Amino acid sequence: MTLDADMRDHAFRTMLRHVEKETTDEFTSVSTSEAVEYRDRETAALERDRVFGEVPFIVGHGSEIASPNEFLTRRLPRNNVIVIRQRDGGVKAFVNACRHRGAQLVEEASGRCRIFSCPYHRWSYDPSGELRTVTLDDTFGDLDRERNGLVELPVEERHGFLWMIDNAQRTIDVESWLGPEMDAVLAGYRIEDLVSVTPQSFDRPTNWKIMQDGFLDNYHVRYAHPNTAGKVLHTNKLALEDFGRHFWFLAARKSIDRFIGEDPASWDEGDIGKHTIESCFLAPNSMILKHATHVELLTFRPYGDDPGESVMEMRVMAPTTEATGLDQEAWDRLWAKNWKIMISIIHDEDFPILEGSQQAMRSLDAGTMRLGRNELGNHLFRRELERLVSIEPGET
Ligand code: FES
Ligand SMILES: [Fe+2]
Repeated sequence: MTLDADMRDHAFRTMLRHVEKETTDEFTSVSTSEAVEYRDRETAALERDRVFGEVPFIVGHGSEIASPNEFLTRRLPRNNVIVIRQRDGGVKAFVNACRHRGAQLVEEASGRCRIFSCPYHRWSYDPSGELRTVTLDDTFGDLDRERNGLVELPVEERHGFLWMIDNAQRTIDVESWLGPEMDAVLAGYRIEDLVSVTPQSFDRPTNWKIMQDGFLDNYHVRYAHPNTAGKVLHTNKLALEDFGRHFWFLAARKSIDRFIGEDPASWDEGDIGKHTIESCFLAPNSMILKHATHVELLTFRPYGDDPGESVMEMRVMAPTTEATGLDQEAWDRLWAKNWKIMISIIHDEDFPILEGSQQAMRSLDAGTMRLGRNELGNHLFRRELERLVSIEPGET
């Protein structure tokens, strides 16, 4: 068995034990938090600079800019950016601002462009970021064009995803950020062979940590989703592998119960995929959910300096029409249905609760909050965040 297969098999056994005995993997202790952590501007500034300005995080899937000159724009915590496919197949990222007097170059969320032409005075830039045209340059005066291309930001494509560090002063190395374990897990998913379906972005009036916590939480399933997810998934049961920065875990479908007390020879990897949901938490802000047929990505990040504003992005990555043998119409129908189920739970059931949490954090006397031993994923998210925020810029 490969390392991955061993890890899955081990977690599956652990999960069966948890289901049988009503237990879960646990953290060592209960910890506390204060409402101020979700409404304090200084904390938000530290997270923006020391987390998103220092380490790689996912901003999209490569298939969203499949051919040369295709681009997407993103509002990241520190910069509004353009990510664009280059002629040689590589990707580059730029601050979405003209070098003349700073007009926003691109308004669209995505598109295709041979030249970025500024709407204000029509300076123009190549997809590689070089300044090409300075209008009425006889009268403009001296200008070193080579030094006035778009401001470049570090971006890298790995395991099918587009990763960035939101800081022009940094260089990016996704492999070393992931570490050998998580890098191997992602390599096994072959996400680069999938295509991104319906990437969607939600502006949420909720601190990004509250959002991320909500989706790492297996304790709420039965209580907040009694008629949907709670019917098919077990509550408060995680089997988790901690890689020290990122972590991997299984949650269980109720259909797993049929294997309780069974001989391990009675299940194979296919059963593990069918009766559990395999998830990766990629510090600082992403979750990958691996299903038997597809992969989902959820990301959370702050926007601007308001601790109460965040952007959540969701996308499904699915096998191509060729790989599934479906015609386009059937393929569209299949993923539209899948998307509808996912979105209705998140939109109608999670979002209101999480938004309410942010409202609650406005109460100055809300009191100390507690995180139980059973909320292991949330503890590990917090551990990584505290570590990053405590590091001086540039020392990661
Ligand atoms: S601000 Fe872009 S050309 Fe003037
Ligand atoms: Fe939920």
